[in-house]
Amino acid sequence: MSEQKVIAVVGATGAQGGGLARAILADPGGGFAVRALTRHPESDNAKALAAAGAEVVQADLDDEASLAAAFQGAYGAYCVTNFWEHFSADKEIAQAQNLANAAKQAGIKHAIWSTFEDTRDWIPLDDDRMPTLQGRFKVAHFDGKAEANHFFTDNGVPTTFLLTSGYWENFIYFGWGPARGEDGVLAVTYPMGDKMLPTIAVEDIGKCAYGIFKAGDAYIGKTVGIAGEHPTGEEIAAAFTKALGEEVRYNDVPPDVYRGFGFPGADDIGNMFQFKRDANEDYCAARDLGVSRSLNPELQSLEGWLAQNKDRVPIG
Ligand SMILES: NC(=O)c1ccc[n+]([C@@H]2O[C@H](COP(=O)([O-])OP(=O)(O)OC[C@H]3O[C@@H](n4cnc5c(N)ncnc54)[C@H](OP(=O)(O)O)[C@@H]3O)[C@@H](O)[C@H]2O)c1
Repeated sequence: MSEQKVIAVVGATGAQGGGLARAILADPGGGFAVRALTRHPESDNAKALAAAGAEVVQADLDDEASLAAAFQGAYGAYCVTNFWEHFSADKEIAQAQNLANAAKQAGIKHAIWSTFEDTRDWIPLDDDRMPTLQGRFKVAHFDGKAEANHFFTDNGVPTTFLLTSGYWENFIYFGWGPARGEDGVLAVTYPMGDKMLPTIAVEDIGKCAYGIFKAGDAYIGKTVGIAGEHPTGEEIAAAFTKALGEEVRYNDVPPDVYRGFGFPGADDIGNMFQFKRDANEDYCAARDLGVSRSLNPELQSLEGWLAQNKDRVPIG
C-alpha cells in the first residue's frame, strides 16, 4: 500500500474538525490518515478518535511551537479557530497567525483555513446600520477570520480558503430552533426578512473539506464556499412544520431586536444575520450548492437532517 498522506486536523474533537476526521477515518482506502490535534488527549472525544484509528497529539492554538511540532511531517492541515470560546477577534487573529506560521515551518503542502467574508467590505465601519464591535469590527467572528487570511498567503502556505455556513446543529445547541409564543404557536425567529439563509449539517463541512483534500491541487489558492441548502426563514419554518407535525411559523424581527436578546454574543450574531440579509445575493452566490455536492455527494438536505435529528432540537 502506498504511504498515506497525514492530515493534521485542528479542532478534531469538535464539530468541523470532527466531521473531517470521521470522513477520513471512514475511508481507509482513500490514501489519507488523521492526526488529531487537541489540548486534551485524555478527553472522551480524543480517546474516541484514537480508538477509531487517529493519531492524537497535544497542541494549543495559543502556542505556535506546539502547532509546528504537531504539523511536522503532515501533508495537509485543517485550520479552524473557536471564536466562541473567548469572544475575541484579536485572539482569534493571533491564533490564526500561529496556524499559518506553523504550517509554513512544517512545510504543509495543503492547508484549509476555515474562514469567512470580511463584512466590512459590504458594511464599512462608519455605516450606522449596525454597531461597530470590539473597536473595529462589524461581525467580529467573521471579520477576524477574514483579516487573518493574509497570514497564510504571506507565508506562502498553499491554502484553500473555506467559507462555511451556519450549522443546522444551531437548532440544537444555539437557540435557532422553534420556541412557543404567547399565542401558543411555535415559531423560529431570525432577522432575515424574506432572504435566504445558507446553512449546512456540520458533519458535511468536514466531508466537503475531505473532498477538497482529495482533489489535490485543484482548490489551492482558491476560496470555496459551501452550504447544504439556501432556505428562507419561511422555508425553515415549513421544514420544521413537516418534521414536527405541528405548525411552526417564521418570526421575522428587526436586527436591532435580535441584537437586544441578551444572550452572550447576541450583538455579533445580530450583525451577522443583518449582513447575510443585506448582502444576501453575494453571500448566497459565494456558497454554491453544486460545488458543495461535487465535493461531498452525501450532502444532506434540511428535510433529511430534520428527519434524523428533530428529537434533539429543544422546543423552547
Ligand atoms: N455555529 C455555527 O453555525 C458556525 C458556522 C460556521 C463556522 N463556525 C465557526 O466555527 C468555529 C468553531 O468550530 P467548531 O464549531 O468546529 O468548534 P467546537 O465544536 O466548539 O469545538 C472547538 C474545537 O476547537 C478546539 N480548540 C479550541 N481552542 C483551542 C486551542 N486553544 N488549542 C487547540 N484547540 C482548540 C477544541 O479542541 P480541544 O478542546 O480538544 O483542545 C475543539 O476541538 C468558530 O470560530 C465559529 O465561528 C460556526
